[in-house]
Amino acid sequence: MKKILVTRKLLRSCEDKALKSFDANLNLNDELYSQKKLIEMSEGKDGILSSLTDKLDAETINKLPETIKIISNFAVGFGNIDLDAAKARGIAVTNTPDVLTDATAEIGILLILGACRRASEGIESAKESNWKWSADYLIGKQLTGARLGVLGMGRIGQKIAKIAKSLGMIIHYHNRSKLSEEKEQGAVYHDNLKSLLSVSDVLSICCPASKETIDMINKETIEYLPKGAVVTNVARGDIVEDEALIDALERRKVYAVGLDVYKNEPNLNPGYLKYKSAFILPHLGSATKETRTAMANLAIDNIDEFFKTGDCKNKVN
Ligand code: DGY
Repeated sequence: MKKILVTRKLLRSCEDKALKSFDANLNLNDELYSQKKLIEMSEGKDGILSSLTDKLDAETINKLPETIKIISNFAVGFGNIDLDAAKARGIAVTNTPDVLTDATAEIGILLILGACRRASEGIESAKESNWKWSADYLIGKQLTGARLGVLGMGRIGQKIAKIAKSLGMIIHYHNRSKLSEEKEQGAVYHDNLKSLLSVSDVLSICCPASKETIDMINKETIEYLPKGAVVTNVARGDIVEDEALIDALERRKVYAVGLDVYKNEPNLNPGYLKYKSAFILPHLGSATKETRTAMANLAIDNIDEFFKTGDCKNKVN
């Protein structure tokens, strides 16, 4: 039986599945392993079932024991893993696409609604009972008729676009390549970021974090947005230069932000906390029982497939 290290606690049924499939070292206390501890715990293991909280940079990967042949990431994103370093060591890296599309798109829509309709301010006032209805109380931005710019029209971007369209939004997108008409669902393609941002009343960041997308939303590119745009991010914090976005909130260049992801999670730039127009969530994208179960099961299946066949359809390096 192959030996694997599971770095974070999984839902019970998934831990049972891991124990049936492998000689699995579980993390029942859900301790956050340091890089040093992760290397030590990998001793004698054939694979690692990692999560987005494990920083598997080149230095860490280079210190992993020779026996490690696969890192199966419990996430669709894999910005926490240095793919090139893994490849150089002959370690396959896999992810969990598809199964979290719906749940993550739901949070993407929540971010758009929460930011546009001033949900943070509303919740705070309702809890403090310090509000009274009036014709101009907490006036927000209506989604119907507004232009939604989807940055990264992958599975999650497409699902967000579909729901937003049903809410009456007009969809624009930027992607490395234009999608087929069937996948576009009437959305307008922009072949460059500047062009997309200039029509984005609301921006939904859905692209993966990569060398190309890190800090893509920065001091310079924020200026392409229409004045009073709303910026939402359901993808990865690394794509946004926080200081620039906070400054844009201060200047009212940006009306509101809706964020589920941050650089250096679980810490977020405290600058956001000063703004009632910041609707912020703690990385809830895939957090439903159905989705977290499906993700963990897929991460386990990826390891199984890899050891049985020498390859895996969800291999990303
Ligand atoms: C992912 O899978 O990348 C999600 O962000 C996890 O919640």
